[in-house]
Amino acid sequence: MKALVLSGGKGTRLRPLTFTCAKQLIPVANKPILGYVLDQVAATSIKKVGIITAHETGQFVEDYVKDGSSWNLNVCYIPQEPLGLAHAVKTAKHFLGSDSFVMCLGDNVTGQGLESFVKKFKNEHLDALIILKEVDNPSSFGIAQLDEKGNIVRLVEKPKTPIGNLAIIGTYLFSNKVHEAIERIKPSWRGELEITDAIQEMINMGFPVKAEILNSWWLDTGKKDDILSANAKILDEYIQRDIKGTVINSTVDGRVNVAAESKIVNSTIRGPCVIGKGVLIEGSFIGPYTSIGDGSKICNSNLEYCVVQDCVTVRDVERLEDSLIGKNAKITRNQRNRTIKLHVGDYSEVEV
Ligand code: G1P
Repeated sequence: MKALVLSGGKGTRLRPLTFTCAKQLIPVANKPILGYVLDQVAATSIKKVGIITAHETGQFVEDYVKDGSSWNLNVCYIPQEPLGLAHAVKTAKHFLGSDSFVMCLGDNVTGQGLESFVKKFKNEHLDALIILKEVDNPSSFGIAQLDEKGNIVRLVEKPKTPIGNLAIIGTYLFSNKVHEAIERIKPSWRGELEITDAIQEMINMGFPVKAEILNSWWLDTGKKDDILSANAKILDEYIQRDIKGTVINSTVDGRVNVAAESKIVNSTIRGPCVIGKGVLIEGSFIGPYTSIGDGSKICNSNLEYCVVQDCVTVRDVERLEDSLIGKNAKITRNQRNRTIKLHVGDYSEVEV
């Protein structure tokens, strides 16, 4: 079995960050989302991984993953035009050959590994296994309608008229039969070859296709607030207290991870929080669910529920909440106190 990890697309909903970075590389708890996806692949017996990339951001992905040896995986890259998930499979056909594969969206994280799905797929000799999770906004996803026994009745991509609330999440398992189905489908109204249509076609063709309901959390990090929720979730689940940096005249409460060469001076940090390498925090309060990237400086400011990437400066800002700050951004105050909310791209400068 192989893995196909999708790390292309335009990331339009995360602009401007995605002008200078692939959306799958936006960090949560100071690690790119794609890293968590590869961790889950590496925890299975799969070794060969194809990563689908976009022409604009593929190099960033390659610079991060390299040959995959950090995960003990053997990785190759497959550039693709953003023409749909089924189109990505089609583009990867030479890599996939006649093997079965797990397909993972590089910006989707779950609290559950892949192993149980791989086992079910193999034991039940399936041609496709999809994973479902209830959502509040079904018109934004591929949706599966099931009968009382849990068999799939039909699948619809982003249904305009409601057919249920079970979304198809970004983890799929396929046999090589999927290629036959993809050959038979046409682009959707949004001009994409939809994987949902290919799976429906597999059902129409009589191949064994099953669905399983995810019993953990699932986050699709397509937008700013999704990144902040994923950050909170990952900090909650994985961060342990570990203080390697220097703490001077400060209070560090709870599950806080401070990397080496960082300095916390005259400040309060309340976990869960992660502070990267070479960070300076001075005269500040860092509240729960905040991640601060390497080399950033937070002075005389209060932050809570934020993702701050590398080499950011925040100075004299009374209260910064629910914000996603790109690399090298500078945020300084020049007026009276006010709470602010930001979605700021790489190299931006904001005065508040
Ligand atoms: C894609 C799939 C959709 C699926 C979703 C999961 O949507 O087309 O079926 O539910 O991923 O994240 P897109 O990200 O292309 O809007």
